[in-house]
Amino acid sequence: MITYLTSGESHGPQLTAIIDGLPAGLPIDPEHLAFQMARRQKGYGRGGRMKIETDAVEVVSGVRHGRTLGSPVTLIIKNRDWENWVNIMDPFKKLPDELHLREQKLAHQTTRPRPGHADLSGGIKYDHHDLRNVLERASARETAARVAVGSICRQLLEHFDIRFASHVVQIGSVKLDRAAYSLDNIERIVELSEASEVRCVVPDVEAKMIEAIRAAKKSRDSLGGIAEVIVVGLPVGLGGYSQGKHRLDSRLVGALMSIPSAKAAEIGIGFEAASMLGSEVHDELFYHPDGDPKKKRFVRKTNRAGGIEGGITTGEALILRVAVKPISTLNRPLRTVDVVSKEPAEAMVERTDNCVVPAVGVIGEAVTAIELADEFLSKFGSDNLAEIERNYRSFLDTEY
Ligand SMILES: Cc1cc2nc3c(=O)[nH]c(=O)nc-3n(C[C@H](O)[C@H](O)[C@H](O)COP(=O)(O)O)c2cc1C
Repeated sequence: MITYLTSGESHGPQLTAIIDGLPAGLPIDPEHLAFQMARRQKGYGRGGRMKIETDAVEVVSGVRHGRTLGSPVTLIIKNRDWENWVNIMDPFKKLPDELHLREQKLAHQTTRPRPGHADLSGGIKYDHHDLRNVLERASARETAARVAVGSICRQLLEHFDIRFASHVVQIGSVKLDRAAYSLDNIERIVELSEASEVRCVVPDVEAKMIEAIRAAKKSRDSLGGIAEVIVVGLPVGLGGYSQGKHRLDSRLVGALMSIPSAKAAEIGIGFEAASMLGSEVHDELFYHPDGDPKKKRFVRKTNRAGGIEGGITTGEALILRVAVKPISTLNRPLRTVDVVSKEPAEAMVERTDNCVVPAVGVIGEAVTAIELADEFLSKFGSDNLAEIERNYRSFLDTEY
């Protein structure tokens, strides 16, 4: 139902996203977009770039008087840092010889690939020796565009009382135990995570996480971790099992793995299930005549499955986790090889974040929203909001 593309280089003039397949009549709140963009930029451990950019989204097509038209929605995010890169990123001009030193340095150091980035493999793949041609698009700056797309998709889902949260459950070796927080009250998770510099909901764990980032920064190193995304209010029945690609779990894990630096993703108890007994893993079923119509009144007292069974939503909270590796650009450069001279060298250093796990939770919410909105529209119809509302109400009112 929903297709989208993003374009734009990290230090180019702008990022652009075009979303097709949205229904007509959906109210779009520009404040929602602004809020989601700001959330992606926050977090202890982000680098200097975040101080330069305050991402603002311009909507240039597909919305009129605050509602979608059913035509493609185009979103633009200007890169404020562009002003500092005009010569280096100009589409046609060659870098003049007399360009002042700083720009020459920025332009020429890009023959020294950073281990852990797309730099070398991308350079070989596209036959680029100026690795800026790779890193400009491989950069996670692109995720700003996806957070904007996610905000639009999320506004559709929130219209149907589907709510999102994310929080950080691990930074480096500092872990938040599953038993230390409850998923029963998603509003509380939102409140606590939004108030935390690292989006951690337990203050003494938060303090340890901040200390770990500070120590890594001091030794000019970087840290990874794990973010958890939670979605509540989903109806039973999104996704499918008839083909592998229809399984919602495969789509969601794929979406989370598309976040730069993601190395693993899991649903519910995920990898833990592998070492447990069946009787400890599966969520037993009960029925309550006055239970939630979104779940057709079936009840699970546990949710180890994390909201998906057989590739289909169960109506329980969706619980997803994504693990990211430490940032690859180190202020203490790793050893590399210059792709022109083939001599040993130190990896190039771009201005860099030092821990992005809090932002990964926010991006995780966005990519999850995109997949869920697509599934929601394929189940409940897609041309206009009033029609989708009627279909949804009919689904809720129909007894199983
Ligand atoms: C929000 C966000 C910000 C990032 N910022 C940086 C950064 O400043 N420096 C860096 O080296 N990597 C950064 N990364 C990670 C790289 O984009 C990523 O490691 C790289 O593209 C290689 O892809 P891979 O790790 O998926 O293999 C960031 C990732 C995310 C999600």
